[in-house]
Amino acid sequence: MAMGAPTPHNNGKLGDIAETVLLPGDPLRAKFIAENFLEDVVQYNTVRGMNGYTGYYKGRRISVQGTGMGCPSIGIYTYELIHFYGVKNLIRIGSAGALHEDLKMHDIVIGMGSCTDSNYASQYNLPGTFAPTASYELLSKAVDIAKSQGVEPKVGNILCSDVFYGDDGLEGLAKWAKMGVLAVEMESAALYMNAARAGVNALCILTISDCPFKGEATTAMERQTAFTRMMNIALELA
Ligand code: ADE
Repeated sequence: MAMGAPTPHNNGKLGDIAETVLLPGDPLRAKFIAENFLEDVVQYNTVRGMNGYTGYYKGRRISVQGTGMGCPSIGIYTYELIHFYGVKNLIRIGSAGALHEDLKMHDIVIGMGSCTDSNYASQYNLPGTFAPTASYELLSKAVDIAKSQGVEPKVGNILCSDVFYGDDGLEGLAKWAKMGVLAVEMESAALYMNAARAGVNALCILTISDCPFKGEATTAMERQTAFTRMMNIALELA
């Protein structure tokens, strides 16, 4: 595809974005991270309010870019980051619903593999199914960092779903839980596939924000503390 930076969705110029990008779904979360965790920050993207910023953490240049929700949205932003801005490390920091019975609110999950009901892989015309996985390098480093910070993350398969309000509700989720899938979110599969296709690194770090089987959900306020623990892992990883 003959395109380059700026893109239809990102008005950053070539060179505006660091090689390592943190990817929250919420663009206001990107703003919060830039304002509270980074130094010498410059906002490079304003298109559709999908804020993107570049700054420094402990002297290392990193960017933070909102992705929106779902595979199509994160698919667009990460494709452009990789192919038009030269991004090499993509670290999603998001929230997820717990599927595994051992998981509690605010626990940290790292997605080693991403199961999905999305059709995203069909574009590759593979003669079978593709197993989207995290970068082993980022994954193993993230686990080491988490442990050094006194956090025991649960690492394994996650479910990347196209539907938040699924017609088969808890029944559908229970089937994934039976297969040992830890948690449900909506972006990891497209992220891992875009990274795999381009030969770059991706990882998905999640905080449990709700437990669908127990009918529990966090308030925005409660999420903040858990979010800070996840941020500390992601920033050290970057
Ligand atoms: N993100 C956070 N909680 C979720 C859930 N229950 N389903 C899908 N995505 C989520």
